[in-house]
Amino acid sequence: MKPILILAIESSCDETSASVISVEEGAERPRFTVLSNRIASQIPLHTVYGGVVPEIASRAHAEAVSSLTYEALAEAKISVSDLDAVGVTAYPGLIGALLVGVNFAKSLAFANNIPLIPVCHVYGHIAANYVTHDDLQPPFLALVASGGHTSIIHVKSHTDFETIGRTRDDAIGEAFDKVARVMGMPYPGGAEMDRIAYEGDASSLKLPSAAIADETLDFSFSGIKTAVINHLNTLSLKRLPYNRADIAASFSGAVVSSVVKKLDLALKRTGETKLVIAGGVAANSHIRSALTDYCQKHTNVKLFLPDRALCGDNGAMIAVQAYFEYKAGVRADTTLNARATM
Ligand code: KG4
Ligand code: ZN
Repeated sequence: MKPILILAIESSCDETSASVISVEEGAERPRFTVLSNRIASQIPLHTVYGGVVPEIASRAHAEAVSSLTYEALAEAKISVSDLDAVGVTAYPGLIGALLVGVNFAKSLAFANNIPLIPVCHVYGHIAANYVTHDDLQPPFLALVASGGHTSIIHVKSHTDFETIGRTRDDAIGEAFDKVARVMGMPYPGGAEMDRIAYEGDASSLKLPSAAIADETLDFSFSGIKTAVINHLNTLSLKRLPYNRADIAASFSGAVVSSVVKKLDLALKRTGETKLVIAGGVAANSHIRSALTDYCQKHTNVKLFLPDRALCGDNGAMIAVQAYFEYKAGVRADTTLNARATM
C-alpha cells in the first residue's frame, strides 16, 4: 500500500519547523518515518533579551517559513502534489507566531486542494513518542513538560485527551530558564542546568516542593523558583559567593521529586500502566533517570522516553498528530484561525 505523506508546519514559539513524514499503515499499527524535519531556531535572536520577544518571533517565522517548507519537501524528495495532508500547529502558543504558520499552511493547502489539519501543540509533543516507540498505543499517562506547558494528560486514544493535572503558574522549563538566567547563563538555560547539576550537592539548599500538597495533580513552580531567586539575591546583597552547581542540583532535585510524586499519584488514580514523557524538558537527564528508577521499582508501569532530538519543538511531532487527526476525519476549512490558549 502507498504510504501516506504529511507535511507539517510548527511556529508556536521560537522555532520555525517544517517536516515531512511518511506513514505506512500496517495491519496492527502505523509506522512513521521522518523524511525531513527542518528546524530554524530563533534562540540567538532572543538570547540578548533573556527570553522570547513575541514580535521578533513572529517576524522571524515569517522570514523562515516558506523556504524551510520547500527545503523540507526537497529533502523528502517529494513535491506539494504528492502530499495527502498538511498539518499545522493551530494552538496554543504566541498568537502572532502561530498565525504565521496557520496562514502559510492555509494558503499552501487550499491553493493545492490538500486537506488541512489543525493540531494542538501539546498533543503534538506527546505524538513524538510514536516515532520513537513503534509499540506505543493509548491508553497511557503523559507528562508534557516544556518551556510553556506542564501538564499530566490522560491519553485515552490517539485523539482523546483529558488533562488531569497542570501547573497553576510557571511552566517547568520557564522555571529552569529563570533560575539559570539569574545565575548568568544564556537563554534558554534548562540544558545547562541539567549538565551542571551533576557537579553539585543537591542537599545544599532546602527548597519548597512544586507538588501542591493535597490530593490535586497540579503543580506550582513559581514558589520554588522564587525561593531560589530570593536566596541568590540575598547572597548577592551580602556579597557572598555561591556555587552554581549546588543551586542547579538542589533546584533540579526538588523539581524531579515533585514530578515523580504527582506522576505516582496520577498512575495510581487512573490505573494506567504506561507512562510517557514529552516536551523540551523531557530531555532532562535527571527526570529521565528518576522515572527509570521509579519504573524499575514499580514493575507494573512501563516507561516510554522520546528521542532527545524530538523533545523540543519540531514539525515531525505535529505531522504525526496530524496523521491521527486526519484518520479521525478532522479537517479545517478556510475559517481556521490560531488561538493562544488550549
Ligand atoms: O518544548 P520546547 O522546545 O518549547 C516549548 O514548547 O516551550 O521546550 C523548551 C524548554 C526550555 O525551557 C528549555 O530550557 C527546556 O525546554 N529544556 C530543558 C532541557 N532541554 C531543554 N530543561 C531542562 N533540562 C534539559 N535538558
Ligand atoms: Zn513545545
